[in-house]
Amino acid sequence: MENKPARAESGAILNQLMEIARISALAEMASGIAHELNQPLGAIAAFSQAGERMLNRSEPLVGQAQDVFRQIGKEALGAGEGLRRIRRLFEHEQSTREVCPMPAVVAELWPVLEMLALKAQGTLELHADDAGRAPVQMDRLKIQHVLFALVQNAFDAAATHRDASPRVRIQVTGDRYAVETSVVDSGTGVPEEIHGQLFRPFFTTKSRGTGLGLASSRAIVEAHEGTIGFEVEPQGGSRFWFRLPVAAK
Ligand SMILES: Nc1ncnc2c1ncn2[C@@H]1O[C@H](COP(=O)(O)OP(=O)(O)OP(=O)(O)O)[C@@H](O)[C@H]1O
Ligand SMILES: [Mg+2]
Repeated sequence: MENKPARAESGAILNQLMEIARISALAEMASGIAHELNQPLGAIAAFSQAGERMLNRSEPLVGQAQDVFRQIGKEALGAGEGLRRIRRLFEHEQSTREVCPMPAVVAELWPVLEMLALKAQGTLELHADDAGRAPVQMDRLKIQHVLFALVQNAFDAAATHRDASPRVRIQVTGDRYAVETSVVDSGTGVPEEIHGQLFRPFFTTKSRGTGLGLASSRAIVEAHEGTIGFEVEPQGGSRFWFRLPVAAK
């Protein structure tokens, strides 16, 4: 009880750090995109004005206009290449894979996840069975990013459900082939009409959301040859899960 003010303060610090991380990630990406598009878009605008002038003459300069169209095409392809370069920056970072059991990876992130619980004034539980302890080959930090994004969403969802205190449960289970990690919340579930959109980049229903949490999680899980999805729970709330293949012996 005595350390409550200190813990509340850590919650506020976590809030600020999350805000800074979100803003700087978006700012970084926006400035990269602006940089890659500025030059080709400027050139395309200039070329199309020139092309229009050539074709508007009493004796249109068709040959030169064709040249200008080719230049426009080249610039557009160049812009596409610029965007691919930005995507590659995010895709091909050095990835360090190691073999570890999922419950240990959750446990390592636990203090951070508890901060999310504290901020939401909710509770967080972890259940792991034997199958869930099978070794998985993974980039630990990236998988922890996925856990963080799912638990953050779970508390956001649970917080909108006013009558109950937010409860989030992490379950790690599995079979011979895969380890399945689920994040189950006590929220109101996902409305049917947005089921197909949740994993799209920038899709958000939150006033301060980026809509990148689930999109980046899916990219990470798929890069691990895994699958990610969700189910609306019959008793309310939802269960977001991801499956990662068990490491070969
Ligand atoms: N556990 C959940 N229950 C209900 N809806 C959810 C849940 N998790 C995600 N969603 C829905 O999916 C949308 C996209 O989630 P995503 O994590 O990609 O972005 P976000 O949470 O809106 O933004 P950010 O992650 O930057 O806070 C959310 O805005 C919300 O509508
Ligand atoms: Mg989110």
